[in-house]
Amino acid sequence: MSGGGPLSDAVIDVQHVSKSFGGLQAVRDCSLQVKRGSITGLIGPNGAGKSTLFNLVAGNITPDTGKIIFDGKDITGLPPHKLFSLGMLRTFQIAHEFSNMTALENLMVVPDHQPGENLVATWFMPGTVKARDLAVKQKANDVIDFLKLAHVKNELAGNLSGGQKKLLELGRTMMVDAKVVLLDEVAAGVNRTLLQDLAANIERMNQELGYTFFVIEHDMDLIGRLCDPVIVMAAGEKIAEGPMSEIRANPAIIEAYFGSPVEAA
Ligand SMILES: Nc1ncnc2c1ncn2[C@@H]1O[C@H](COP(=O)(O)OP(=O)(O)OP(=O)(O)O)[C@@H](O)[C@H]1O
Ligand SMILES: [Mg+2]
Repeated sequence: MSGGGPLSDAVIDVQHVSKSFGGLQAVRDCSLQVKRGSITGLIGPNGAGKSTLFNLVAGNITPDTGKIIFDGKDITGLPPHKLFSLGMLRTFQIAHEFSNMTALENLMVVPDHQPGENLVATWFMPGTVKARDLAVKQKANDVIDFLKLAHVKNELAGNLSGGQKKLLELGRTMMVDAKVVLLDEVAAGVNRTLLQDLAANIERMNQELGYTFFVIEHDMDLIGRLCDPVIVMAAGEKIAEGPMSEIRANPAIIEAYFGSPVEAA
């Protein structure tokens, strides 16, 4: 096989994946890997196919051709809830909190299909349910503290700022011990201060808790701070991969990305 083949340290391995919508080929023969323990960036101009690639990896849509391997398993065509129970979770470009519940409650209602957990055991041992609820509440509080959202934990989620909602969305991924989190434009609409918090939390989740992140983002400073490597997509194809310093310095990539040569930031 071309393109390097499956790597043992690749937790996500996309192999020759294509996807068309009618006549439009959104993703074309795309192969890429996300290494376990990395924060891998995915950048490219509007319409490059980034969100479509996420939808393919996360099981929201099925590829026309190609294969997707997660953690050594062929997951091509598996629905999101199956991938969720394997430890993969995605966030959407638009945050979708439950606005009539508090921040804390939003974390407590994350489905508890924990990887490896036996739900049947809880049905047959109702006495353990209360202990479970307490454990979930404790965990939600831990996540709230980790994200420094304690001051708003009893606020209705609908009243939180855009940035706080994004932090909450990140928090939801922490309730399930996901191994791999796909973040689609998690920084969009977030103010500079909260953006720093968000970035710091992603770094801490990566370094202290061992999460792997695959991150779509238009904010190049954020990508540069967080991600290594950075994968560049244009017109449905992967056109480059490397550290952000290399991506920024490569005139061919800058041209493909912005449509015309620009000064590297
Ligand atoms: N469900 C769909 N039906 C039809 N066309 C779609 C669908 N989803 C995406 N597309 C098209 O596929 C192409 C790639 O879109 P995609 O959303 O993946 O781009 P993107 O890189 O995420 O862009 P952005 O940076 O603007 O979010 C676009 O031309 C888009 O209009
Ligand atoms: Mg998108």
